[in-house]
Amino acid sequence: MPDESTEEAKPAPAKAPKAAAETAVAKAAPGGAALAAAGAGMPAVVVVQPAPTGIQVPKVSRRKVMIIGFWGAMGAMLLGIVTTMINSLYPRNVSGFGGTVFVGTVDLLTSAPGQKIHNLDAKAWIVMLTGDKVQRNKGAQEGSIIALYHKCVHLGCTVPWRPDFSREDPRNGETYAGWFLCPCHGSTYSDAGVRVFGPAPRSLDTFELVIKDGKMTVNTSKITTGNPDNPSRAILPG
Ligand code: FES
Repeated sequence: MPDESTEEAKPAPAKAPKAAAETAVAKAAPGGAALAAAGAGMPAVVVVQPAPTGIQVPKVSRRKVMIIGFWGAMGAMLLGIVTTMINSLYPRNVSGFGGTVFVGTVDLLTSAPGQKIHNLDAKAWIVMLTGDKVQRNKGAQEGSIIALYHKCVHLGCTVPWRPDFSREDPRNGETYAGWFLCPCHGSTYSDAGVRVFGPAPRSLDTFELVIKDGKMTVNTSKITTGNPDNPSRAILPG
């Protein structure tokens, strides 16, 4: 007769391979990680983590992020500096002072004798020389038009036209009213911007003027230093 206690004890070792098999199966579960723990004589505990889903983003270290950020910022700053330099060296479509400014039509000047246009965008006086103004401004042609920079060449005050102000013209000894008179120190200029009195060292500067189809445009980037030949710079409307 076989010993009963001996027969019952024999199957016990077979449980260990089973637990090991469960652990092995769990570890090899496709697409996921598994944790397994088994103690002697204890059932295996298996935890299976779900497989990651969606787009897998590679891990980037903080150091790498900081380096990329630094050089990105440096690149953006350099690009901004270069762009600004190119824009300042090659200005395009500049309007307002420093560029071309439409200052009105010729008929504005012919609509009333002695009419003048003061354009603040161009900082210019637009003057038509006619009649006695041609006589007083040697070199001018009847009906010619000149663009004067309204900035006094002494210390830069804006020079207004003073139709009521009368003084002697040292060029011909006549006394008459109507002068450009600087309010700061009294420099006085003729209709054509010729200096006749005051501390200003020269006549008013002039702008390039273009007249096309009766429309007048001043190029404020093209300034010619004023002198007594200002009247000869006046152009005919054409
Ligand atoms: S600023 Fe015009 S006279 Fe001095």
